[in-house]
Amino acid sequence: MKTTMKMWWWRWRLIMVFMVVVVWMSDTAKSDPQTKLLNYGCSQYNATNLSNFFSNLNATFLDLRSQLSTNNTHFATAATARSSDPVYAMVQCRNYLSIADCVACFDVAESQIRNCSAANGARVIYDGCFIRYESNSFYDQTTLPGNTGLCGNQTASQPTAFDEAVKASLADLQVATPRINGFFAATKTAVVGGNASVYAVAQCAETVSETGCQDCLTVAYGNIQSCSPDTDGKAVDAGCFLRYSETAFFADNQTVNITPFLGSGGSSTKKKAIIGGVVGGVGLLLIVAALFSWYYMSSKPKATRRGDILGATELQGPVTYSFKDLKTATKNFSEENKLGEGGFGDVYKGTLKNGNVVAVKKLDHVSSRAKADFETEVKLISNVHHRNLIRLLGCSNRGPELLLVYEYMGNGSLDKFLYGEKRGTLSWKQRFDIIFGMARGLAYLHDQFHVCIIHRDIKSSNILLDDNFQAKIADFGLVRLLPADQSHVSTRFVGTLGYTAPEYAIHGQLSEKVDTYSFGIVALEIISGQRSNDMKVEAETEYLLEKAWKLHETDMHLKLVDETLDASEYKEEDVKKIMEIALMCTQSPASLRPTMSEIVVLLLSEQSAEPRRLSRSSFVDSDLRIREDTFTASTGSTKSHATASITDFTGR
Ligand SMILES: *[C@@H]1O[C@H](CO)[C@@H](O)[C@H](O)[C@H]1NC(C)=O
Ligand SMILES: *[C@@H]1O[C@H](CO)[C@@H](O)[C@H](O)[C@H]1NC(C)=O
Ligand SMILES: *[C@@H]1O[C@H](CO)[C@@H](O)[C@H](O)[C@H]1NC(C)=O
Repeated sequence: MKTTMKMWWWRWRLIMVFMVVVVWMSDTAKSDPQTKLLNYGCSQYNATNLSNFFSNLNATFLDLRSQLSTNNTHFATAATARSSDPVYAMVQCRNYLSIADCVACFDVAESQIRNCSAANGARVIYDGCFIRYESNSFYDQTTLPGNTGLCGNQTASQPTAFDEAVKASLADLQVATPRINGFFAATKTAVVGGNASVYAVAQCAETVSETGCQDCLTVAYGNIQSCSPDTDGKAVDAGCFLRYSETAFFADNQTVNITPFLGSGGSSTKKKAIIGGVVGGVGLLLIVAALFSWYYMSSKPKATRRGDILGATELQGPVTYSFKDLKTATKNFSEENKLGEGGFGDVYKGTLKNGNVVAVKKLDHVSSRAKADFETEVKLISNVHHRNLIRLLGCSNRGPELLLVYEYMGNGSLDKFLYGEKRGTLSWKQRFDIIFGMARGLAYLHDQFHVCIIHRDIKSSNILLDDNFQAKIADFGLVRLLPADQSHVSTRFVGTLGYTAPEYAIHGQLSEKVDTYSFGIVALEIISGQRSNDMKVEAETEYLLEKAWKLHETDMHLKLVDETLDASEYKEEDVKKIMEIALMCTQSPASLRPTMSEIVVLLLSEQSAEPRRLSRSSFVDSDLRIREDTFTASTGSTKSHATASITDFTGR
């Protein structure tokens, strides 16, 4: 009797073990919690009572995890607000993940977010899920400054058709998702004329309002539309997530038929390209869902409060740093930490207490009017988010000096790679990517940001390179911080010799085309490895631009290419194309120059730039030359001729 019981017990255990193994194997075979880390940030402030804080945090995370696994849900909020240091938290998984993957993603996210130790707010965002916690309730927050786009690093094989499919699917998701109950949609869109597809998802936190979701996706869309035709793009935000990819990151049967939600106001012209969802009984379900969501939403207060209750993570716009901390971070602004001298003042490398490395700019000569507007200006500039523009993280304005804090670029500025200490280390492909990145960054400043920002001092020392040698434009947007007597009205000549468009240098005429001109000059520097304004090159002084025109006119384009490049790296037609675009940019009058958005298209297009005749203006050779010589003579220097580096805003 006893033995049979025991036998039975053993068999039962064996069967159980076997079953667990089978389940585990089938699970791991297709499981992918998508834990690629996209974004991570800790509040600068610590909780006050650590033992209360940690016990609240632990209880909250436990609650979140159990809601996911027991309620079979992809979204949860939890709060533990007893005692001091309350914790409010939220988790969301992409709906295409299985519950097991969702919980796995949560576990990875939790262990990552614990690296913030006692910070009173933090967030981590992965492809598959995100967690955020704060010391106050933030569940209805959506678009906050600090949203960002992340692009891939490969261009799709059919850029134009791919770009169209991306734009169409993102535009539709933006319209439909806020109208869908649960705020999640996934689509697959065929690329016309090829066998590729665009997979895209949009998702909002379930606790925001419909308008909140809409606003958030609008910003997210703005942040990734310029990624295309890269094969990947992701926008991360406090309240929503938007992603597209050429790679199938969810199964075809996970798509949602969004057609019923596009309505008459559906923005897409390519609705037929959307391969509708194949989920069974979709039509009826979606109608019910729509009615339900309409009923549910209309019974909730519509307006989202933006910015009135802010938590503490970096998602909430520019950070205010203490002067003392920045002084310590830069070792008291020591010479050894000095990175360079920018147009507005010196720049120092700083290491913050949390280990983050930043670049700190000490502003000289700030007008008193500008001091008053400082915070507004900083807020505006810190809202500029583009992969090819340096990010302004925050500022310090309470100490004895005004300081701006920027992201730090380990590779430094482009000029060093062209004709400085790192000369000859950039490949042809890297050079092309830098030119393309600059064009994208400027096109964003001119056309895509909500105010048009003219840089006015594009030059190779203002182009920084990140770890992947992607171009990041520095020093934009600070013009209003300069005293009036340094503005272009009184001094006129505010750019840098050799880079500045003649109509601006001589007559002070300012337009976006001033940046187009300087872009053309930098592009020539990039392919030639020569300084635009180096007059020591040969016995007869020859400016780079003049040389390029001559070589173009005699069809000897290859002679301009940097001799440190191996001739097998580039093709003659590519050199010719870039030179033609660069020369097109330097034409006068300014109206002949293309816009930066047109240049982006030209750089991508297959054929050589232009059958259209380029017009070389005599203006450049005579007037400006004379003026430059005079200017150089009067300062006695050919190098340190930069006056202020200035940028400008013009209203739209
Ligand atoms: C909270 O959880 C962490 C990790 O799971 C643990 O190390 C810590 O002791 C816990 N703290 C409290 C106060 O429960
Ligand atoms: C279709 O896909 C295959 C590989 O997946 C690729 O080699 C081929 O070039 C593609 N065809 C087109 C027209 O894009
Ligand atoms: C979706 O397709 C996968 C195989 O790709 C299958 O395992 C799964 O059961 C399908 N799900 C639904 C809801 O049909």
